[in-house]
Amino acid sequence: MNEYILEIENLVKEFPGVRALDQVTLKIKKGEIHSLCGENGAGKSTLMSVISGVYPKGSYEGKVFYKGKETNYHSVKDSEKEGLAIIHQELALSPYLSIYENLFLGHMKTKLGIIKWDTYLKASQTYLDQVGLKENPATIVSKLGVGKQQLVEIARALSKNVELLILDEPTASLNDDESAKLLDLILEFKRRGITSVMISHKLNEVLKIADTVTVIRDGKSIASFDVKKDNLTEERLIKDMVGRDLTRRFPVRKTSPGETMMEVKNWTVYHPEYHTIKVVDNVSFYLRKGEVLAFCGPMGAGRTELMMSLYGLSYGSRSEGELYLHGNRIAPRSAKAALDNGVGYVSEDRKTLGLVLIQSIKNNISISSFQKLSKFGVVLNRQEIEEAEKYRRDLRIKTPSINQLARNLSGGNQQKVVLSRTLLADPDVFIVDEPTRGIDVGAKTEIYEILNELVAQGKSVIMVSSELPEALGMADRIYVMNEGKIKGMLMRDEATQEKIMQLALLGTV
Ligand SMILES: Nc1ncnc2c1ncn2[C@@H]1O[C@H](COP(=O)(O)OP(=O)(O)OP(=O)(O)O)[C@@H](O)[C@H]1O
Ligand SMILES: [Mg+2]
Repeated sequence: MNEYILEIENLVKEFPGVRALDQVTLKIKKGEIHSLCGENGAGKSTLMSVISGVYPKGSYEGKVFYKGKETNYHSVKDSEKEGLAIIHQELALSPYLSIYENLFLGHMKTKLGIIKWDTYLKASQTYLDQVGLKENPATIVSKLGVGKQQLVEIARALSKNVELLILDEPTASLNDDESAKLLDLILEFKRRGITSVMISHKLNEVLKIADTVTVIRDGKSIASFDVKKDNLTEERLIKDMVGRDLTRRFPVRKTSPGETMMEVKNWTVYHPEYHTIKVVDNVSFYLRKGEVLAFCGPMGAGRTELMMSLYGLSYGSRSEGELYLHGNRIAPRSAKAALDNGVGYVSEDRKTLGLVLIQSIKNNISISSFQKLSKFGVVLNRQEIEEAEKYRRDLRIKTPSINQLARNLSGGNQQKVVLSRTLLADPDVFIVDEPTRGIDVGAKTEIYEILNELVAQGKSVIMVSSELPEALGMADRIYVMNEGKIKGMLMRDEATQEKIMQLALLGTV
């Protein structure tokens, strides 16, 4: 018997101008949890797409063996038939179909040409139970949060008798609680003999559950570690990922905040559909010049809704309360008006609210700054190119050209493009929602440096973050929200993870 379920030999995958995979060699043991780590654009997702047939045989060089046999997949369907399942970085469910329809989509059997819906409705319940999702199978998927959608995808994999489960950054959009549950589920699968490959930038999670970790750098497989035997640490992993020691994850800020820049008084926001429900409830806070503020709190606390409502009422049916910038009351009615007023927002959801996937990197960066880049109403192409090139350099966006479509960038690099756009628009108040989601450890530090630079120039930053270490490492003050309300505020030197949790849950420390 072969001890490996998957063996990859000298894999090479090229896109125009990019060698995404460069002689990758990798072995995955039957029944293990194998993690792939590496910087944004290292080639992790591409590697998984080759394995699962998203990129068909013939579009790459090298060999892939699954259960000892060389694969010959022409599409994902072929690999699914053999027990491979991939859960992509960006979820791929059909939002307007129900859970059970999503579960069995594409592999329903018919009897005399008729689909037996009842049978599927019942069968889906057993799979939902296995992943611990307590929802009616007839629920429409778009009504579920990301965490639950993730579980539907996994249930879908189970329904196809998965033997090798590939998860591409499964916990990136989950909160701590949901993440812990998902990791437990992967461990449970291991007990049942299912092999998992997990791509993740969250190194603590990797070390918690993986048996083996392989580091990919610039399309090459750099090293594989046995987590227990090699006593693998985060520092060691980072060193191989970025090719150097990373001494400080949170760069020191030498400046301190000045006078009040923005003030929000008694701000209430009503639900976009249910006009009497308050999603943000009587919130007041202030932001000083040269300050980094963090907003923490559990999922659904109202942080994103608050920030979007301040950004030209991009969320909510209406708002009450007052918003002041530089002492003047403003009431922007659109995102554009907010930007013109000096308030910018970078969405947590880069796919639906941020990026235009079928446009170039250059256009995505300049889209909010046409006025600035124009003369007599015409956008100056040369200036547009210069600015885009500048951000490509500064944020190390990994791409052969700024004319590349945003769609072709790796997840983390898409995030950098969205950030660049708002940087170029140059607002006084820079609101970033989960700015480092899906971003590798090295690039995170670069983003923190950029935020520090902004405040050094007298701008102000509001950061919504679910990563408490990030909030603690970067913020001058931390507001804690829950249930649409601000539950308390902590100064930098008094804030701890425990106090943030206590404030969120009990409203007091
Ligand atoms: N369809 C495509 N066309 C052109 N280039 C591509 C395409 N898909 C990926 N690439 C490039 O291949 C390289 C590897 O990308 P990949 O998505 O595999 O990275 P990754 O390791 O998953 O990164 P991340 O952590 O940001 O998700 C990147 O330089 C990316 O821009
Ligand atoms: Mg990826």
